[in-house]
Amino acid sequence: MEIKITKDYQEMSELAAKEVAKVLAEVKQPVLGLATGSTPVGLYEELSKMELDFSKTVSVNLDEYIGLDGNHPQSYRYFMNEKLFNHINIDKKNTYVPDGSLPDAQQAARDYEELLSKLGRIDLQILGIGNNGHIGFNEPDRALSLPTHVVKLEESTIEANARFFDSIDEVPKEAITMGVGSIFKAKKIIVLASGKAKASIIKSLVDEYVSTELPASLLKFHPNVLLIIDQAAASLLD
Ligand code: F6R
Repeated sequence: MEIKITKDYQEMSELAAKEVAKVLAEVKQPVLGLATGSTPVGLYEELSKMELDFSKTVSVNLDEYIGLDGNHPQSYRYFMNEKLFNHINIDKKNTYVPDGSLPDAQQAARDYEELLSKLGRIDLQILGIGNNGHIGFNEPDRALSLPTHVVKLEESTIEANARFFDSIDEVPKEAITMGVGSIFKAKKIIVLASGKAKASIIKSLVDEYVSTELPASLLKFHPNVLLIIDQAAASLLD
């Protein structure tokens, strides 16, 4: 796992945007794996400003809450439209986010994994990291699922994400997430982290062993991972 430490959030976002631009320049029909949350917002702002050509790009998002349809302002589909897709020339038909509004979420997860298999590759996957070490919504556990699956969110994740909702009771308790196996289909993975609140989990990720109790640590088995973190997130590293 290669690590780049940037001065601040802005520099982290710019560096990540350059990596995305490189993939768009090199690959004819790029498949981008995208994340939501606070961390990649700056990256998406940069990409929106750069006037890149996304007309041939396909995107797949990591996860979606169960019970929210794409018009709900806290759904990840809505987030992606607002933060990125509405500002670039990507064809929305080529943007995929798991569908959390279907009555059979298990089937929706299986359908999403089939879509990923059909695409066959992800050229670049962008990841954030949860305070508990989750990637996507793969929460710390004794065992982790490989394909896209339905997951019960941890209390700490519900608390962390309550900031986006009017009250904590409105945060969905379940989500559909790409599994670690789906994420590992990516040729390259960029993990972004910013701010003091992420310093402790970044220290554990870098210093410690590999464990499904720290899902991001499994990325150490992937041959092409770049961790881009700002100084605040890196502040507890030796
Ligand atoms: C989002 C996702 C999550 C977030 C993580 C960090 O699609 O899959 O794993 O990346 O919870 O969230 P932020 O960036 O809000 O700290």
